[in-house]
Amino acid sequence: MGIHIAASPGDIAPTVLLPGDPLRAKFLAERYLTDVRCHNEVRNMLGHTGTRDGKRVSVQGTGMGAPSFSIYVNELLRDHRASTLIRVGTCGAIQPRIGLRDVILATGASTSSGMNRHRFQGMDFAPTADFHLLRAAHDAAERKGVRVHAGPVLSSDFFYDDPADWQRWAAYGVLAIEMECAELYTLAARFGARALAVLTVSDHIVDGGHTTAQERETSFTRMAEIALEVATSFA
Ligand code: HPA
Repeated sequence: MGIHIAASPGDIAPTVLLPGDPLRAKFLAERYLTDVRCHNEVRNMLGHTGTRDGKRVSVQGTGMGAPSFSIYVNELLRDHRASTLIRVGTCGAIQPRIGLRDVILATGASTSSGMNRHRFQGMDFAPTADFHLLRAAHDAAERKGVRVHAGPVLSSDFFYDDPADWQRWAAYGVLAIEMECAELYTLAARFGARALAVLTVSDHIVDGGHTTAQERETSFTRMAEIALEVATSFA
């Protein structure tokens, strides 16, 4: 039993979906899984485990930003032997060709966070997605007729960043900014797990566009359906 996830060994499935918002974790489990059991309530960072298409799947909230995310994902990998992790989250697009509500599959994550600089003693690690999860998610998105892009993201420590900063990353082909993907891919590599971030564009940093609460809800369920399809095919 970890400090932040109060579940016993075996309570959590090897395949885990990771929304930042714990209420989204609850919503997702209640809407899509059967035989649902809450495995964590510590700090209200809700985690649930259930079954979909005969496969056990867990959904665990992570909070926002790399340090919070890292706590939950470390415990999932170390204490609960998670082997497939799929983040379902939002991002801000920094390329004009990407539209609001499009889905981005993060092939790799650059980062402005200090965590990997510390971990690798000033050297750079290249955090990358699992190819098989990525391919399956791309296929699932296309089958559903969703506008999908596969490419690099920036995992930033700032939600409210200096507006000048995103342009440098955009010039190097980065599609969007979010806050957790680099830590997800780095931890998955460390523990020999598979990982993917499936992101919907909730805001457009180039033109200042935002989705409404209703649109965020609809695009969240669409993204969750892609992630669940991938999760059950790998569980
Ligand atoms: N910055 C960082 N993370 C985000 C953003 C953003 O603009 N939008 C959604 N997640």
